[in-house]
Order: sequence, then C-alpha cells, then structure tokens
Amino acid sequence: MGRVAELAGVSVRTLHHYDRIGLVRPSARTPAGYRAYRAGDMERLREVLAYRRLGFGLREVAELVDDPSADALAHLRRLRGLLRERRDLADAMVAAIDREIAARAEGVTVPPEEQLGLLGARLYDAIGGAYLATRRTEPRFAAQIGEALGDARTVVNVGAGTGSYEPAGREVTAVEPSAVMRAQRPAGAAPCVAAAAERLPFADHAFDVAMAVSTVHHWEDPMAGLREMRRVARRVVVLTFDTDEPGWRDRFWLTRDYLPEFAAVLADFPSLRGMAEAIGG
Ligand SMILES: C[S@@+](CC[C@H](N)C(=O)[O-])C[C@H]1O[C@@H](n2cnc3c(N)ncnc32)[C@H](O)[C@@H]1O
Repeated sequence: MGRVAELAGVSVRTLHHYDRIGLVRPSARTPAGYRAYRAGDMERLREVLAYRRLGFGLREVAELVDDPSADALAHLRRLRGLLRERRDLADAMVAAIDREIAARAEGVTVPPEEQLGLLGARLYDAIGGAYLATRRTEPRFAAQIGEALGDARTVVNVGAGTGSYEPAGREVTAVEPSAVMRAQRPAGAAPCVAAAAERLPFADHAFDVAMAVSTVHHWEDPMAGLREMRRVARRVVVLTFDTDEPGWRDRFWLTRDYLPEFAAVLADFPSLRGMAEAIGG
C-alpha cells in the first residue's frame, strides 16, 4: 500500500479509506499475506483519482467507475472531454481577466454585471462542467412530464441544461443561458438558444407548451420567468419545489442528509400558489 500510495501521490490513509468504503479494493495478497494491488485495481485507482481531481464527490466517483456501460476506454474519453471543458473554461476566464487588466490599465471601470459574470454569477458556467456525466434522467419524472405535455407538438424547454428531460417525437426548442451547459448538449439534441427565462426571445404563443425542469430556483426573477413562459406558450409545465409543504426539509435528501443550510437559499422562493397563478393556474 505504501508503494502504491507513493506512485499515485496520495496518502496510505486515503487508500485505506477507499478500501474501507469499497471504492478501490486491493484484490491480491503478497506471499507474506499483505493485501496488494493487481493491475486492474491500479487502473481503477487511476480512474478514481482522475475523477476526484476533477472535483467529483466520493459517491459520484463510485457511480462513475461502477457504470456498467463504461469500459476503461470510455472512462478515458469521458475524462478527456471533462478536462477539455475545464481548459476551455479556464481559457475563457483568463481572457476575461486579461480584458479587465487592460481596461483597468486604461482607467476604464468594469460594469458590475461583467464583474459578476467573471466571479461566477453564471453558476452553471462554474459548476456545470461535469453535468453530462453526473446527471441522470429520473424515469418517473420523465413519465410525468411526458403526460403533462399531452399532445403538444411544439415545446420550448427553458433552463434546458444538457436536455435530460427533453421529450422525443416533438418539435423542441431549448433555451439555456450557460455556455458550459450548451456545450455539453449531445449531438442530435434539440436546437438551443442562448437566453434566460426572464427574457425569452420568442413571439407570444409561439409554442404549444413551455416546460421548465428543476431550474426555476436558479432564476434571478422566477415570477418574471414564469410569466414569460406563459406569454410564449399556450400551456406551461413546471417541475419545481413546493416550499409551502410542511416538513419538506425532512423529506428532501439535500436538506435532510447533507445541507440543512440549503433551506435558507429557498427562503425567498415564491409560493407554489403564486407560481401557479403566474403560469395561468
Ligand atoms: C439543475 S439544471 C436543470 C437542467 C435541466 N432542466 C435538467 O433537468 O436536467 C438548472 C439549469 O437552469 C439554468 N438557468 C439558470 N438560470 C437561468 C435563467 N435565468 N433562465 C433559464 N435557465 C437558467 C442553468 O444554467 C442550468 O442549466
């Protein structure tokens, strides 16, 4: 274990921990009876460490390396894609910093919106780089959404991300403000417009249905965005939080198991009734 730790640049304690939680288990024994790593264990360790260095949590890493549909080559391709995205984002940030340095040298002040953009007000540009690898479609949600869409032929998917819940067999237009998210949309996904919910670049009643899944809580002005959806479509389908429901903090996995503080983020979130009114009941 000491030698493997040295080679991999991690502590023996880390290796013990990975062994304990079943993430990377040394599967061989030395003649003296010590546990030892086979080539396959080392390959798995390399994948685990690469995903860890990209910022994935241990539970996410376990899901990624145990993905039955991914072999070693698929992991390498996925890691390569994720690293390239990181590099593109870093390049974009360096370019933005260079622009600001040059502007300051000329005595030009940077408008607050631009400063915020640089510092990550565009949340998903900063945190969304691994979305395609970690986001899964929940089949029960997809079924309910499909049902709610009814016989809609044209659909606008607002805050579409990488398109997890975009329905097949309909004419879909996606709307997504984050460049990092747009860049991860798979080839063949619906065309995607760079815009935010609060200002949709479409005519009134341009679509049969406007849908928004797990995104309203990120909007700067949720009610304005919902009214926009109502304006551009005949019907609106939204999957969001109901923070009026008593006890939601104890049922929602994020607040219950990990981050009770998350409840504070939703303190000013509109009531479900208010949101329903904004989209026409
Ligand atoms: C949790 S992801 C959900 C993505 C997708 N709907 C899904 O269910 O997989 C939230 C998405 O909302 C987008 N978003 C953030 N602010 C937005 C805004 N004002 N208008 C539209 N989308 C926004 C983010 O960029 C991100 O892609």
